[in-house]
Amino acid sequence: MNFKEELGLYAGIMDTEINKKLVKDEVIEKKLNESIEYSLMAGGKRLRPILMIASYQLFKSDYEKVFPFAVSMEMIHNFSLIHDDLPGIDDDDFRHGKPTNHKAFGEATAILAGDMLLNKAYLLLGEEISKSSNEERDLKIRAYKELTHGVERMIIGEYVDTEFEGQKISNDYLEYMHKNKTGALIKASIRIGAILAGASEDDLEKLTQYGENIGLAFQIKDDILDIVGDEKILGKPVGNDIEKKKCTFVTKYGLDEAEKRLEDVIADAINIINNYPNGEFLKELAIYIKDRKK
Ligand code: IPE
Ligand code: IPE
Ligand code: MG
Ligand code: MG
Ligand code: MG
Repeated sequence: MNFKEELGLYAGIMDTEINKKLVKDEVIEKKLNESIEYSLMAGGKRLRPILMIASYQLFKSDYEKVFPFAVSMEMIHNFSLIHDDLPGIDDDDFRHGKPTNHKAFGEATAILAGDMLLNKAYLLLGEEISKSSNEERDLKIRAYKELTHGVERMIIGEYVDTEFEGQKISNDYLEYMHKNKTGALIKASIRIGAILAGASEDDLEKLTQYGENIGLAFQIKDDILDIVGDEKILGKPVGNDIEKKKCTFVTKYGLDEAEKRLEDVIADAINIINNYPNGEFLKELAIYIKDRKK
């Protein structure tokens, strides 16, 4: 299997796993469930679940063990996207080539769909932990804390993003914003995979460095794509960050500097993952994050 095939395989598996958690019943809140499905099944890349699977596989092969955490992470990621697009945050009309959740279902439903996705993620993991054996429970509780910590950091990053809109931001604050709003869930995904596989503290530390680098890289590339991306491929409009006076790596440093920084952080990530003879897929993933078009 080549890299692209492996990526497609895991994304497909995650689509199936997420689909199992959708509620299709004829209930009064049917529209709320449809809005959740609309975002969860919109064609996202499933990057965070894939990172979780890949870091688990550095140590163990039975990667279905991460599925409950991977599905929860993707629910939380989609909650963050729905709320990120709301009029009170980024006020965006398109994502995944379709109207954003609030444009399709109304603002109240979109807010509640986000709330529900966050809650469902925690419920799913509560069930997962409560039914696990004693020996697995401690690792799962640690992974759960990792996830909740990542969510907190993501929300803090989103706060900083909105708070500094239209202002000049220091280098440190910009880095803080990116590492939190986007980096935190990416780093948590990598760490959760390793924790569930019982990785050593030394490995966990190395993978944390890898996760921090690709997390920062992912948002730098997102900022770059907002300028040079192709809307049709990206599925969301370009030029929005400038229009909304967002603080980004491109508005702060310019395109060339941003691209250079992207190269540097990806090189750092690759240096770390080169320590692992079976780290080829994670190495390719770092390159994919740098070169992605969507
Ligand atoms: C988009 O994340 C939001 C950011 C954190 C920059 P992704 O690009 O991973 O979103 P999807 O799920 O693949 O659309
Ligand atoms: C979003 O950053 C980060 C989160 C959703 C937590 P952006 O606002 O830059 O993401 P896009 O460009 O809307 O996908
Ligand atoms: Mg935003
Ligand atoms: Mg946004
Ligand atoms: Mg963006």
